[in-house]
Amino acid sequence: MSEMRLAEKIGQLVMVTAGTPVTGPVAAGDPTSGVRDGRIGSLLNLWGTEATAAMQAIAVGESRLGIPLFFGFDVVHGHRTVFPIPLGEAAAFDPDLWEATARTAAEEAAADGIDLTFAPMIDVARDPRWGRMAEGPGEDPLVASRMAAAKVRGFQGTSLADPRSVAATAKHFVAYGAPAAGRDYATVDLSERTLREVYLPPFAAAVRAGAAAVMPAFNIAGVPMTAHVPLLRDWLRGELGFEGVLVSDYNAVGELRTHGVAADLAEAAALALTAGIDIDMMSPAYEQGLPEALDRGLVTLADIDAAVRRVLALKERLGLFDAPTRRQQARGTGVPSARRERAREAARRSIVLLKNDGGILPLPRTIGRIAVVGPLAEARADMLGPWWGAGDRTTPVTVIEGLRAALPDAVIAPVTTDPDAAADPTAPDLRTADLVVLCLGETAAMSGEAASRADPGLPDGQRALADAVLASGRPVVVLLSSGRPLIAPWLFNTFPCVLAAWFLGHQAGHAIADVLTGHADATGRLPVTWPRAVGQIPIHAGDRPSGRPASPDDPYTSRYLDVSVAPQFPFGHGLSFAEIAIAGVEVGDPDGLAGGPYTFRAGDAVDIRVRLENRGGRGGEETVFLFLRDPVASVARPQLELKDFARIGLAPGDRGVLRFRLAADAFAFPGPDLAPRTEPGDFEICVGRSADPDGLIRTRVRLTA
Ligand code: NOJ
Repeated sequence: MSEMRLAEKIGQLVMVTAGTPVTGPVAAGDPTSGVRDGRIGSLLNLWGTEATAAMQAIAVGESRLGIPLFFGFDVVHGHRTVFPIPLGEAAAFDPDLWEATARTAAEEAAADGIDLTFAPMIDVARDPRWGRMAEGPGEDPLVASRMAAAKVRGFQGTSLADPRSVAATAKHFVAYGAPAAGRDYATVDLSERTLREVYLPPFAAAVRAGAAAVMPAFNIAGVPMTAHVPLLRDWLRGELGFEGVLVSDYNAVGELRTHGVAADLAEAAALALTAGIDIDMMSPAYEQGLPEALDRGLVTLADIDAAVRRVLALKERLGLFDAPTRRQQARGTGVPSARRERAREAARRSIVLLKNDGGILPLPRTIGRIAVVGPLAEARADMLGPWWGAGDRTTPVTVIEGLRAALPDAVIAPVTTDPDAAADPTAPDLRTADLVVLCLGETAAMSGEAASRADPGLPDGQRALADAVLASGRPVVVLLSSGRPLIAPWLFNTFPCVLAAWFLGHQAGHAIADVLTGHADATGRLPVTWPRAVGQIPIHAGDRPSGRPASPDDPYTSRYLDVSVAPQFPFGHGLSFAEIAIAGVEVGDPDGLAGGPYTFRAGDAVDIRVRLENRGGRGGEETVFLFLRDPVASVARPQLELKDFARIGLAPGDRGVLRFRLAADAFAFPGPDLAPRTEPGDFEICVGRSADPDGLIRTRVRLTA
């Protein structure tokens, strides 16, 4: 650093895009001369062994100080092999799977010269209008925290210097998932309590897991996140001790002017740097504004040096000073067939069987004629959803291809191929079909960034198509592709069998066929509450109790005149083919139960055993959720707080036990002053297969002073 000129120092803080895709108003030209002049420290959107190695050769061989670049890319749910969208993968409730798919993505990305991914996206989201719900873990802070840690482990492995690892960027810090009215980039206004209880914990988990970088969100109430000193400097760096790199979102530093907190680029740069932003992604603020900010005394050289040191430290941890092209040279990203199998497994575990009245599924092996209908029947690129990394958009397996491969003796015919046109319901293959698979939902472009929808139902024309199919009288299985819960009560009221198929990635069609044919059990569970009306949004299982809980008999209660307060499907909902039931729940030491509730002292852990039985004729798997309810506390606690989840596989007739342990801090919450506290008294441990209050087994425990 002692040899670096000011422009070279600032250069380390500048990240520009090297090509498409662009996710903002600014596109870059050719970055080569900037790299050669030491004015660019990192690039995004350049990938491929040769391309990255050639650019690195310029940085190392032709710039004055020979400082290597690092290459960043949005490896959100796969790089070459595309896995299900994160919201879909969340439905697997399986941290091992989350880690494994991130590991595969890291290995593929690293082999393409990528050093850092802008992932995981760990924004809790409770508003299906917001299209970026697709990219994240859903509504629950515990699920988000587990996913954060698993993804960081998967991306980063045991060492960042491992040429098959990439640095992880936890994003978008913080509460990006709660924009007003679900509109992307809009303002966020929420309480300090909700911030601490819901939105900060996943970032704490990511940082504890060692995330190398954090990206601030585009927005927040009052002070934009890109300039938020209390949250970035005091909480993230101070309270949490985060020592990694803060990389801005695309053009976010420059946008401090549009937010109305900076008059010019120098002020914007000074605000961001002072808040702790090390890298300015794609705005001219640091390059053009920082020198002037320094002249005007808005920043000090020490501020700039601190940021440069963190960027250089990241490059060092990535091993770039020792071997600038180590990732490009590393080979061996595993066996392609193993990666395909992992993608297929992840995809089938993401599928949620929402309804299966009359047991239409699994399909009988002898099924003869299947008509596959609807705009997504033969959709291919759409199966990847938003963000496909470097994935080939011509190779995803379509629904129809998957079914044909799984049922080679059946006649399987598409009824329409035009994504904009309704199917002809009178086509002969519909009327003579033994089954109709109706493929409805969104195209990939309808969710993700800048894809908010005021009315997130089925796109135009699909209801008419669905009605026509229903009128045919044939048995129908509805497959819903989407990046969010789709509001369509009429669909759930009329069709007996519906599956949430999200955007499942390259192996979509095979995974769907695996579940439809019963080759695999349906095991996905909803990571978000599924609303029945837009007006219910935001909706989630962790709501606080009203003083006047909704009652159908009392008008002066917390309810709607025109729609039930109950969701279409609760958090955790999902059906299996197997019939695994919870046979009993025991809490604490069974011998110590002298009639009253199990009693424990502050600091003690509580053990919970959940007994399960497979009462049906098929083997399968069940997911059990463990919630806590604190009925009386100094601060009203949520109706349900998810504390743990686990899965069990059981053969027909088998019994098994899932064991949970609630550590002492599970009973703590932010008190009236927001400091963590534990209050003696009774708690309810609520165990169930979803957050449906009617299905929960509640056991009271008592915490003594
Ligand atoms: C904008 C998005 O908000 C962010 O998630 C992404 O990493 C960057 N663009 C870079 O593509």
